[in-house]
Amino acid sequence: MDSITVFAPATVANVACGFDIFGFAVDNPGDQITLTASPEPGVRITDIIGDEGRLPRETGRNTAGIAIQSYLQHINRTDVGVDVVLRKQMPLGSGLGSSAASAVAGVYAINELLGRPLPTIKLLPFAMEGERIACGSAHADNVAPSLLGGFVVIRSYQPLDVVRIETPATLFCTIVHPDIEVNTKDARFILKNEVSLKNTIIQMGNVAGLIAGLMTPDYGLISRSLVDVIIEPVRSILIPEFNEVKQAALENGALGCSISGSGPSMFALSRDALTAEHVGAAMQQAFLSASITSEAYVSEINRQGPKVLASQEVVH
Ligand code: HSE
Repeated sequence: MDSITVFAPATVANVACGFDIFGFAVDNPGDQITLTASPEPGVRITDIIGDEGRLPRETGRNTAGIAIQSYLQHINRTDVGVDVVLRKQMPLGSGLGSSAASAVAGVYAINELLGRPLPTIKLLPFAMEGERIACGSAHADNVAPSLLGGFVVIRSYQPLDVVRIETPATLFCTIVHPDIEVNTKDARFILKNEVSLKNTIIQMGNVAGLIAGLMTPDYGLISRSLVDVIIEPVRSILIPEFNEVKQAALENGALGCSISGSGPSMFALSRDALTAEHVGAAMQQAFLSASITSEAYVSEINRQGPKVLASQEVVH
């Protein structure tokens, strides 16, 4: 294979109560990457489309470039040459795991291009390296679900222990992205380092309840558990109309609503597609009443993760 194009899905990290430990993938949006084998060793970002020139083109500063490079070093294939074209198909700084999707698409694509020397799960640390560059922390709650698909729990970071959780077949996600930007580094910086015992107990109850609710499945339990008493109260100040948008989602039948990743996107879960559509319209309307335009995405939980869109043998 000489050329491959891969799509990797956007993700909702944290999922209310699970800061840095929960995340799930959605069908859209997502990022696309095309890798073309080159006789000249090294990884080159030859083009990035859809970022308005804002992302670094140097391989060592680009999330996909870093992920591919660290993978090649790990498998001792620094002799490999590859040209990279990245198509950003989701907003930057949106809380949808944009940097993660690029890193995952990159590392998945290079592994396929080389005939899959590593199983998919082993690609995770290289995608996390991309996150370290983009956000200042190698958190896995975007890269793991983008890479593995489904709803993922990061049980532990050291050692890395990732568990995929079954979710109800008819669980739908609404994401509304207001046209404002929040930088993940900033959104992490404002968090408090200490948490009270009282809030820890509440949060642990919700973490356990959400997993039990998803696996049973029990929509009432899912709904009661989609509560974040630690991160949301701090970060919601970065999102204008947060309370109104959340209330609009809940009043229109959402099981729960919170910040997607580090924001400013907000997500809601619903038990059917129609409710998820209504919820999206109501959330957008709530943003609009403060003159904030937005995009809405409705999707099931994406269980597939990255997918190969095209591959080609070039006849030399
Ligand atoms: N868990 C990370 C955070 C996700 O909330 O900072 C960033 O998308």
